[in-house]
Amino acid sequence: MNRPEPAAFHTVAESEQKPVVLTGDRTTGPLHLGHYLGSLKNRLMLQESHDQFVMLADAQALTDNMNDPARVRENVLAVAMDYLAIGLDPEKTTICLQSALPALSELSMLYLNLVTVARLERNPTIKEEIRLRGFERDIPAGFLCYPAAQAADITAFRATVVPVGEDQLPMIEQTNEIVRRINRQTGVTLLPEAAPMLSRIRRLPGIDGRAKMSKSLGNAIALSASPQDISHAVKMMFTDPDHLRVSDPGKVEGNVVFTYLDAFDPDQEAVAALKSHYRRGGLGDGTVKARLEALLQAELAPIRERRAAFETDPEKVRAIVAAGTRRAQKITQETLDMVKSALGLFCL
Ligand code: TRP
Repeated sequence: MNRPEPAAFHTVAESEQKPVVLTGDRTTGPLHLGHYLGSLKNRLMLQESHDQFVMLADAQALTDNMNDPARVRENVLAVAMDYLAIGLDPEKTTICLQSALPALSELSMLYLNLVTVARLERNPTIKEEIRLRGFERDIPAGFLCYPAAQAADITAFRATVVPVGEDQLPMIEQTNEIVRRINRQTGVTLLPEAAPMLSRIRRLPGIDGRAKMSKSLGNAIALSASPQDISHAVKMMFTDPDHLRVSDPGKVEGNVVFTYLDAFDPDQEAVAALKSHYRRGGLGDGTVKARLEALLQAELAPIRERRAAFETDPEKVRAIVAAGTRRAQKITQETLDMVKSALGLFCL
């Protein structure tokens, strides 16, 4: 067999290289507080120690937005601006555009032969998303298969760390199944397995108290929200529907304002004291909400200001994405060549 020796897969400098991080976001709308807590804050940390790639997942966004490609296109630079606004530094984090990386599609086509339809249908995130979107039996094939494409995203960069929210764990699990299949078949450790990196707050509920903050559920606070938007969102926030009078004892569990204080308040002792006061009665929703609103306003103001600066110069943002994509093209093509050759495909 013309199977290359394992050593052929390792470039000289590889052992000295930093470990690789890959993650991405669908470009369907602006990023929100759920993204921020679930993954973006970890990315800020990881860019200091890792070679980090962040992907504008416009191709994946199309798997359930093919009726509205304009929305997907318009959000490419919007999400890139969110990245830059939170402090991702293009010197340390390579921002790239998924649809401009053809090697990803080619890898996906190979990986689709390594997963079964039944396995895709069992993926808990896919199952839940099918239910939420009301696809029933009319599931776009690209949607059902996107875990295989996401495996291509992750492995094409030979990433070992993937900072994501809890809902993405099944994708990483499926990626690693594909990696093991390929490694077993080629007889070498061709691709590394990837580990998820979760944050302390695994899942931020929406302001309406539903399990997940999501733009499509209309219960999100965007990172680019105006001070008025933030104020309005906090006013609308779900608390304890039985807490009618200030003097009534209130429930903290399932009370979004307290969940957010757990997530955002640096003074957790004060939060504990507020919780017991609320439980006893005598603490009004308005007081707790005012504390949360001040925290959110302070956290989001600098992000909004930096974003406003990038908004005045979209060409600069586009150039950052273009440069990052060129770098990503090289790496993903290298991986594709490596996989094809290790599988023993006919290479011209
Ligand atoms: N599926 C992810 C989401 O819905 C986005 C994504 C695309 C991604 N490719 C990825 C995440 C690769 C991690 C790694 O947010």
